[in-house]
Amino acid sequence: MQKKVRKAVIPAAGLGTRFLPATKALAKEMLPIVDKPTIQFIVEEALKSGIEDILVVTGKSKRSIEDHFDSNFELEYNLEQKKKTELLKLVDETTAINLHFIRQSHPRGLGDAVLQAKAFVGNEPFVVMLGDDLMNINGEGDLLTKQLIEDFDRTHASTIAVMQVPHEEVSSYGVIAPIGEGDHGLYSVETFVEKPNPEDAPSDLAIIGRYLLTPEIFNILETQKPGAGNEIQLTDAIDTLNKTQRVFARKFEGNRYDVGDKYGYMKTSIEYGLKHPQVAGDLRRYIIQLGKELEGASPKSAKSDAE
Ligand code: UTP
Repeated sequence: MQKKVRKAVIPAAGLGTRFLPATKALAKEMLPIVDKPTIQFIVEEALKSGIEDILVVTGKSKRSIEDHFDSNFELEYNLEQKKKTELLKLVDETTAINLHFIRQSHPRGLGDAVLQAKAFVGNEPFVVMLGDDLMNINGEGDLLTKQLIEDFDRTHASTIAVMQVPHEEVSSYGVIAPIGEGDHGLYSVETFVEKPNPEDAPSDLAIIGRYLLTPEIFNILETQKPGAGNEIQLTDAIDTLNKTQRVFARKFEGNRYDVGDKYGYMKTSIEYGLKHPQVAGDLRRYIIQLGKELEGASPKSAKSDAE
């Protein structure tokens, strides 16, 4: 029987080593993009896509994530007394979201993080949404999670989101070997390979942080051996799944933001800031002014000034 996709799993238990020392005591998924923690964008994408039940897989620094989605009576009382209704509304919105939490005891890899969701998911298709990967944060474009669910409703098969990346960057990703040219962005896949050398990579289509999976993935993950980086890789389990049931890849054409990377985080903050009603104007003026100053200070323009 065809089942509806109702559940989402958000792995947020990684060490976040690319963002140390900020991530020593703070989960990177709580790093704010202007005024909203990264994980809140992801939870909102899930809810807008029709997801009803969300499990967050946490590790160290779990408190801040739980606290963010819990009520804070003192704060709410204070805002109410001071008649700060708009701020109270923002706080209430986070409290209204009901999440489940489970702990990954050791960060053994994304595959192991997803395995922690086995009892929560049961025998249903579900989505995995990486806690540090944002898509279309400015509300433009389609919701990728919703797109994957629509694909599943048609194909009844697991579907993994992929995106074209520069060839020299493929070794940071899982990469697919697509079969043929795809059908309106949906590809059949021959193999899924985690972190290939650019010279061995079967394509430049890299796996990004949204997956729709059938529950058969759990049996595979239970016996999955560590792969690249000595971690239990979700990509390896998906490759095995693809040998017994079809796994598709959905090509994403929108904007993706890797918040777990320092440069990615800064770009995300600037782009979101440029759309934020309270800071957009000032930030825009500042960036234009800064651009002029940097241009003036560049050796190239110093040289042409001298000429
Ligand atoms: P990343 O590879 O980006 O996370 O995993 P990381 O290992 O924390 O990052 P670096 O490379 O050390 O900076 C993608 C997502 O999977 C989660 C992470 O929290 C992140 O949201 N993850 C990763 C887990 O939940 N458990 C793991 O064992 C590994």
